[in-house]
Amino acid sequence: MNDKLRINGDRLLERLMTMAKIGSTPKGGVCRVALSDEDKSGRDLFAEWCRVAGCDVRIDRVGNIFARRRGLRDDLLPVLTGSHLDSQPTGGKYDGVYGVLAALAVIETLDDAGIETQHPVEIVSWTNEEGARFAPGLTGSGVYTGHLSLDQMLGTIDKQGLKFDDELQRIGYAGEIQPGDQCFAAAIEIHIEQGPVLEAEKKVIGIVSGVQGMRWYDLVFTGQEAHAGTTPMDRRRDPAAAAVRVLQQIYALNDKHAPHGRATFGDFKAEPGSRNTVPGRLIISLDFRHPDSAILDEVDREIRSIMNRECHEIGLEGQVDEIWSMPPVTFSTQCRSAIQRSVDMLGYPSMEMISGAGHDAMYLSSITPTGMIFIPCKDGLSHNELEHAEPENLVAGSNVLLHTILDLANPQSEKPKVQ
Ligand code: GLV
Ligand code: MN
Ligand code: MN
Repeated sequence: MNDKLRINGDRLLERLMTMAKIGSTPKGGVCRVALSDEDKSGRDLFAEWCRVAGCDVRIDRVGNIFARRRGLRDDLLPVLTGSHLDSQPTGGKYDGVYGVLAALAVIETLDDAGIETQHPVEIVSWTNEEGARFAPGLTGSGVYTGHLSLDQMLGTIDKQGLKFDDELQRIGYAGEIQPGDQCFAAAIEIHIEQGPVLEAEKKVIGIVSGVQGMRWYDLVFTGQEAHAGTTPMDRRRDPAAAAVRVLQQIYALNDKHAPHGRATFGDFKAEPGSRNTVPGRLIISLDFRHPDSAILDEVDREIRSIMNRECHEIGLEGQVDEIWSMPPVTFSTQCRSAIQRSVDMLGYPSMEMISGAGHDAMYLSSITPTGMIFIPCKDGLSHNELEHAEPENLVAGSNVLLHTILDLANPQSEKPKVQ
């Protein structure tokens, strides 16, 4: 029996710290934004570890990295596990990278113990999950599953005017394989929770039932550039004056949908961006999330009407551009049950929960049975350099991943019959 099998915790923790040195920041976090030099170094290191572990490493056209461990029945569909290596500009050591390195730990544990599985097992590192540099995020999984257009994503431009495809080629990760080339038997992603629930509930494992829906907007306020010193206040068409009112009303709208609504204005761009010129244009990003599609639709209508009303009031042009959206997702009962069986066998305190953060698993769930495992993170803090997860929880989660993968890669119906 494999019930006694456990991952090598020291090796996992050491690998996490080695990876965290790439793009390390003074406050103890990482900056490894997609397709940067640091992203390249992280990818190179991960791919090398996979090759040393005997995996066949493949790169597709959008830069997704797959590392395959053969199955006893190599004709069966692989069981996929992994996450992402890119980070926020002021990101932490665990967001994404934990899911990739825990997946590698699973494969190495199977190798060390000489255990073969019926299905092949594949590790994946998806490209540009964060969307911090090139929007939208979840690029690798979105293109892989056919929800985002490859050509459109390759043509996306960052704030410096650099093109996604040029940067992908520059770091050497524009592979030959067409994204979406194969199907999977199941997909499991492990991740830190990035919120405060598990810590507050004193649970070690979250069995994720689904992910809330999200909408990404650009709120575009267009007025008129004018001199900051000479233009009387009542003669200005000032985008900032409308923005203050709009943001306040969107916060109030969000309060109406407490405690689930989440409104974030994360990026502000003033044009021309000069201290002594009233801006001609102001573009403010809005990330809005809620678990209920009907509420997302209602909020969408409200945002448009707030924008119209307030911009009209002070003679501005107001535009709401929806640049990306993702409906709420429910994960497969097959995967949730496999995770639950592993948690029960290992005896960790656990709970079912919904994810507030977006994950590549959302897109995967449209093509294969998918599940997610969460572990607690300190003070629920993530997208922050101080992000922290306790070593014992990192190891516990990886053991749950190990047994979940063993379960899914050896389904009863495909196990050799005992004579
Ligand atoms: C992923 O990082 C998200 O924005 O939820
Ligand atoms: Mn992540
Ligand atoms: Mn993230």
